[in-house]
Amino acid sequence: MTRLIVRPTPRLAGAVTVPGDKSITHRAILLAALADGPTVINGYLPADDCLRSLAAVEALGVTVVKEPALRLRIEGKGVDALREPASLLDLGNSGTTLRLLTGLLAGRPFVSVLTGDASLRRRPMRRVIEPLTRMGAEIFAWGGGERAPLVIQGRRPLRSIDAALPVASAQLKSALLLAALSAEGTTRITEPARSRDHTERMLPQFGARVKSDGTGVSLAGPQRLRGAEISVPGDLSSAAFLLVAAIIVGSSSAGGEVRLPSVGVNPTRTGLLDLLARMGAKVGLERPRELSGEPVADLIVSPAALRGVTAAGSEIVAMIDEFPILCVAAAVAKGETLVRDAQELRVKESDRIAVMGRELRKLGAGIEELPDGVRIAGGAVLHGATCHSHGDHRIAMALAVAGLAARGETIIEDVQCIETSFPGFVDAFRRVGADITLEAD
Ligand code: S3P
Repeated sequence: MTRLIVRPTPRLAGAVTVPGDKSITHRAILLAALADGPTVINGYLPADDCLRSLAAVEALGVTVVKEPALRLRIEGKGVDALREPASLLDLGNSGTTLRLLTGLLAGRPFVSVLTGDASLRRRPMRRVIEPLTRMGAEIFAWGGGERAPLVIQGRRPLRSIDAALPVASAQLKSALLLAALSAEGTTRITEPARSRDHTERMLPQFGARVKSDGTGVSLAGPQRLRGAEISVPGDLSSAAFLLVAAIIVGSSSAGGEVRLPSVGVNPTRTGLLDLLARMGAKVGLERPRELSGEPVADLIVSPAALRGVTAAGSEIVAMIDEFPILCVAAAVAKGETLVRDAQELRVKESDRIAVMGRELRKLGAGIEELPDGVRIAGGAVLHGATCHSHGDHRIAMALAVAGLAARGETIIEDVQCIETSFPGFVDAFRRVGADITLEAD
């Protein structure tokens, strides 16, 4: 078992490069596997989650070459070259691989079996299975059709459908878009709120046509993809830990500026930046530019005194993965923070509402669990304690940031999971001066 030892740090400063975006890396790998011709992916995220997508496409018969400097070459031979995998596909902890691959395999005329770790086998799948079944795929799932393992008998061609999604979910939307590539006719998808649109932005890079309009997206199938060259920006969801740490560690008088070059700032992902601005911290965006259809900027941040905030409704979707670190910012902010309409957080890698409540209370935060969010009293003077990640990478990293702002030593148990999305987390934090050490038994 590995643990982090975190000690109070007076000041963070310096520049650090965050790893590539997880969502964009998954999409680039899966679309490349469907394409006619080679795809090159620059700056991909070499983390456990994305390696599951990579291993899955290899199991479908696609040749993958890992080149130096985080460059991947994927030799797509077209969708019809994909072959039935010889054994079941173990997707580890990767919810994105599970959902998107289910959509991709729904349109392939063979049988695949998908499974993963205990957390993945708890994630809700009926929302993906139901529309894909209407499109013509046959999918059997454990727990009376609710969860992985899944057995997928794909069909070619699929039927197009109109799908009104029960939740705003980019994983669900993207699964249906991947299936729609193999369907006859136009598939229309509407969401209750707009989720991250990386798939819609990436499909045209592979030569596909997709129409977005507010909370709706449509794709006229069938369509073939051609190989592309994709450059992956830094992951804002990983940058979020450094941003909040730079704001809450030390004080404005101690100075300290943290710079994060080339981070994705897609507006469907920047909910935390908007909330931090409302809380009194300014994250500067310099050199705004575009990389493979995605907005990117250099982020600059300094310490600031925060005040509590209310986050609810559709704004939750644009910060869905930042809930754990927002709780940490709110715990030290002045005044109350209220997060509502965030019930999706109960079915992420862990029940993030329950787990953040339990673990932050150990550090002295005033946090009350609500059915769909939390109420955080704010103004806490955090103190060191021994906390647990519950096997969830974002919980482990959020607690590490809380430890930097706490008095005394904080221990976070079971932190191997950080490899899921942020390889080099400890080094990145040490580079800006954080007192964090990794210990393994
Ligand atoms: C993701 C979408 C989000 C997010 C997850 C990655 C994606 O899930 O929580 O970490 O890559 O599409 P939902 O859109 O299903 O909420």
